[in-house]
Amino acid sequence: MKPPRTVFVCQECGAQSPKWQGRCADCRAWNSYVEERTPDVDSAGAAHRYLTSAKPGVARRYAEIDVEGGARLSTGIAEFDRVLGGGVVPGSLVLLGGEPGIGKSTLLLQAAAGMARAIGPVLYTSGEESEQQIKTRGQRLSVRDEPLFLLSETCLERIIEAVARVKPAVLIVDSIQTLYSLRFQSPPGSIGQIREAATQLLFAAKGQNIPTFLVGHVTKDGSLAGPKALEHVVDTVLYFEGERHHSHRVVRAVKNRFGAVSELGVFEMTADGLRPVPNPSKMFLAERPSHAPGSVVLCSIEGSRPILVEVQALVGSSAYGMSRRMASGLDQQRLALLLAVLEKRAGFHLAGDDVFVNVVGGMTVDEPAADLAILAALASSARNRAIDSATAVFGEAGLAGEIRGITQSALRVREAAQLGFRRLIVPAANADQAGREYAPGTCELVGVRTVGEALDALL
Ligand code: TYD
Ligand code: MG
Repeated sequence: MKPPRTVFVCQECGAQSPKWQGRCADCRAWNSYVEERTPDVDSAGAAHRYLTSAKPGVARRYAEIDVEGGARLSTGIAEFDRVLGGGVVPGSLVLLGGEPGIGKSTLLLQAAAGMARAIGPVLYTSGEESEQQIKTRGQRLSVRDEPLFLLSETCLERIIEAVARVKPAVLIVDSIQTLYSLRFQSPPGSIGQIREAATQLLFAAKGQNIPTFLVGHVTKDGSLAGPKALEHVVDTVLYFEGERHHSHRVVRAVKNRFGAVSELGVFEMTADGLRPVPNPSKMFLAERPSHAPGSVVLCSIEGSRPILVEVQALVGSSAYGMSRRMASGLDQQRLALLLAVLEKRAGFHLAGDDVFVNVVGGMTVDEPAADLAILAALASSARNRAIDSATAVFGEAGLAGEIRGITQSALRVREAAQLGFRRLIVPAANADQAGREYAPGTCELVGVRTVGEALDALL
């Protein structure tokens, strides 16, 4: 009898079983069995599949290693190149995660056309759509006669065969969750299958130096399905974010072996595909109300890119004794902390009030530099006094009510000045430095040391 080609392994204790089990007989963990290959498949040939290069393993001197081949390839979409750290690295494996319907297939089809034009033949395999469906979409995205090959396939082995046949310069696999390996019994989408597919594609990418993009769906709680199995296998993990009800989409790098993380690309979903937005600040501020209490502009930084966003607050007396505190686009705990600072250090009484804070446009800010903007929006709403619409703020607040300096202040100041802001309320520690690095001309920098000073300057 042939030995089994796979084995189920408990991820908690490493126990093995030829069949899937709901509960590990050894460590009693529930639902911990994942299908894996047995090490001795294909007898002698087995070990070879782990080899990423045909050359024997000879260590080379650091100084002698040639990095010429490490040049980056442009995807033809500048915003996408930016998130990748300046383009895609040959032989790298990139995972693009996002909720269904957010635009992953659209972005990759557009990038496929761009790369087919610039780099060479691209193989786009989809386990979700037929070739006709992909082409119909491509026509909307004005994909013409680029050397783009489409394959509707879910079998991993056949995809790898197609790669050997087409010899593409770039491979795109639309949704790792639809792939299955013939060797495994588990259904597509299970951890065992996902891990096997990612590993096989990694060897194909590294071995033949083909940059490969994988699409991954995220689960309801916002993580990639089979996250551990995937995130450490691939070189780069990108998340596609955005709100269904807004047309803008943000691609964010959360892991990148070849570039900076938290780099951001901004797109707008239009009737004919995703359009890059080179100046997101303008878009986020487009519908800002003027002279409305509770609204203030924050100079935030995403990766290396300054983005101006509007922070809005609404403070009103609570109708039912139980006051509510709601934050969207920022951390709820941070809001609680800043409310306490406002009460204790600036003499506001908000205990009986409902408080709502929102970062406009579905953006999320999680840097401490947003503190001052949140405080300013809250105070402006509570006092019912509007903040001048040509004023922007940034700064971190401490528990003692002090305003602390933050990083990359010059970038923030420059962006605000370019968009026509005339007055910036900033930490005193940043006012001199930012002023020196960037001579504002028409833009006045007001350095503040405490929350009180900041609110005096604003209201
Ligand atoms: P899609 O790329 O299929 O999402 P995913 O692969 O992440 O599941 O995007 C589908 C959505 O995008 C769909 O709701 C329609 C919209 N869309 C446009 O608005 N304009 C377009 O040109 C395209 C192709 C899609
Ligand atoms: Mg899709």
